[in-house]
Amino acid sequence: MNWVYIRDLKDHIGERVEIRGWLRRKRSSGKIHFLALRDGSGFVQGIVERSSVSEELFKLAKKLKMESSIIVRGIVREDPRAPEGVELLIDEIEVVHQPEKDFPINKPDHGIDYLMDHRHLWLRSKRQFHILHIRHEIIRAVRDFYNERGFVLIDTPIFTGSIGESAGNCFEIDYFDYGKAYLAQTGQLYLEAACMALGKVYNLGPTFRAEKSKTRRHLIEFWMNEAEVAYYQHEDNMKLQEELVSYVVQKTIERAANHLHAIGRDISKLEKIEAPFPRITYTDAIKLLQKKGFNVDWGDDIGGDEETAIAEEFDKPVIVERYPRKMKAFYMQPDPENPDVVLCDDMLAPEGYGEIIGASERIWDKELLIERIKEFGLDVESYSWYLDLREYGSVPHSGFGMGIERVVAWIAGLEHVREAIPFARTLYRIHP
Ligand code: 4AD
Ligand code: MG
Repeated sequence: MNWVYIRDLKDHIGERVEIRGWLRRKRSSGKIHFLALRDGSGFVQGIVERSSVSEELFKLAKKLKMESSIIVRGIVREDPRAPEGVELLIDEIEVVHQPEKDFPINKPDHGIDYLMDHRHLWLRSKRQFHILHIRHEIIRAVRDFYNERGFVLIDTPIFTGSIGESAGNCFEIDYFDYGKAYLAQTGQLYLEAACMALGKVYNLGPTFRAEKSKTRRHLIEFWMNEAEVAYYQHEDNMKLQEELVSYVVQKTIERAANHLHAIGRDISKLEKIEAPFPRITYTDAIKLLQKKGFNVDWGDDIGGDEETAIAEEFDKPVIVERYPRKMKAFYMQPDPENPDVVLCDDMLAPEGYGEIIGASERIWDKELLIERIKEFGLDVESYSWYLDLREYGSVPHSGFGMGIERVVAWIAGLEHVREAIPFARTLYRIHP
């Protein structure tokens, strides 16, 4: 028998095929059972007609519970009214597993905590299917972008001996004779080493922040894509970020339009996302916030609400550059025109999604870097290998990190990043 995936059914109209999947829902009139089927590739309606099947089969269909795993066979029929364009006229059902209990997700109004507790089963719902496809296409586009431009993939470690970003929110672990090690907050330091060997490099992997913030933008474990380029300066860096984000948005629209439509995303807002993006300095952003009534002064952090207020002014992502040195990480190159600020930028997504990219030119002078490491209260000794990069053929270089879940939440139009990752780790959640 010809086993076909639902996504390919339209190429088999008029043929008898087999589908291996699950029963999502069932609806019956006296004469027909309508079986909503899924198989991981898509969704289709199966029809069991009393007049054309045996009484035994009709009774079997009636007994099937939600999320039974079944193999069904039948004729593919064109149906212009169906979202998939086809339906399946079933004449055979093989039950692989019939659940004894009712499926726990069976109401339209389960609360979010309940759904997150059942994430392992919630993944089977239509909305999650579409979101995970969108995430898949976003990550694929990120990889394509770098691969088309001659970047080399460098997989950076998860266990690290030096703090990558800041001591405040670092997970510590016991590491044999070394004592303390850390879970990577970033792969940046390793990409800096690799760009001196391979020129243009990128990574894409999980990163960890022991962040006590319970917001719709924060995860404890999140995926980051980082890029690092030797001889790139601040301006080159910002240009690369704009090109990446435009590329990823446009490719995702092209490849995942059906999934975006299915979850109700307004694509017209995404179509506008083409480089160049507007830019504003931190100093001007503070003035803008003051004008909008925020109680902020130069030197203050720009929090979530402030980010939203700045982004509101634009219908594309906005690049905020040159933050005060004291607010940012130890490795950022000072602005030669004003040493109180650094050559860095954050990219803020529109529609209230906040910071999606953090970036900077890196300090390439050894003495200045040592000074900064001490100023930030970090242990110079554990950075000896990182300092070596400034000892042997040091060059200006720049890079950035883009939070995958923030980008997924923005492109898919999600309320919270917890739906943008298959199994979210938040402050109060490690299961499932
Ligand atoms: O701005 P961040 O902290 O930058 C770095 O880690 C740099 N070392 C990157 C680099 O230059 N190579 O983090 C980068 C991005 C943020 O802009 C945000 O999108 C995301 O990572 N991010 C988070 N996403 C979800 N949950 C969290 N707790 C996040 N923290 C940062
Ligand atoms: Mg940041």
